[in-house]
Amino acid sequence: MKTVNLDINFTEYSSIEEMSPADQALVREAIEAQKGSYAPYSNFNVGAALLLEDGTVVRGSNQENAAYPSGLCAERTAMFAASANHPGKTMVCLAIVGGFNHEIAHSPCTPCGACRQVMAEYQTLGGKPLSIIMFGTEKAWKFDRVDDILPFIFDSFNEK
Ligand code: THU
Repeated sequence: MKTVNLDINFTEYSSIEEMSPADQALVREAIEAQKGSYAPYSNFNVGAALLLEDGTVVRGSNQENAAYPSGLCAERTAMFAASANHPGKTMVCLAIVGGFNHEIAHSPCTPCGACRQVMAEYQTLGGKPLSIIMFGTEKAWKFDRVDDILPFIFDSFNEK
C-alpha cells in the first residue's frame, strides 16, 4: 500500500498580454463566440473557440432551453460542431470565457465534468494533446492536455 500524488502543471496569466499571440487570438474568438450565447434562464453566458489542426476556428456558445436539460454548454457546442462539420480534423486548443449578463468574469471559466469527458474522447481521437485556456479578466489558466483537468479519464478504448 502506498500514497500516490498527482502533479498537475498549468500556466497562470494575470493579463491577456502575457499570452502568446495565437492564444490571445483564440481568446478573442471565444469572446466573440459569447455573443451567440442564448442563456435566458441562467443569464450566465459562455463562449468557446476551438482551434483545429489546419487553423480553422470553430465557435460555440451555451444554448439553453425551457426544458432545462435540453440545453448545452458552449464547449460541447463547439466540439460537436467541429466534429460534425470538420470530421477527422484534430482539435488543438479550446479557449473558454464566461460571465453573467454577457460580461466576462474576473476569474477563469472552468468547464463542467461532462464537457471534460467529451474533450477527453476527442483528444484520444485526435492523437495529440488538446490544450485548454480558461480565461478571466484578472486571471487566466492554460492546461496543456485534458488529462490535467480530468485525471483518470474514463476511456472505453482502455477496456478493450
Ligand atoms: N455552461 C457552459 O456553457 N460551460 C461551462 O463551462 C459551464 C456552464 C453553461 C451551462 C448553462 O447554460 C449555464 O452555463 C449555467 O450553468
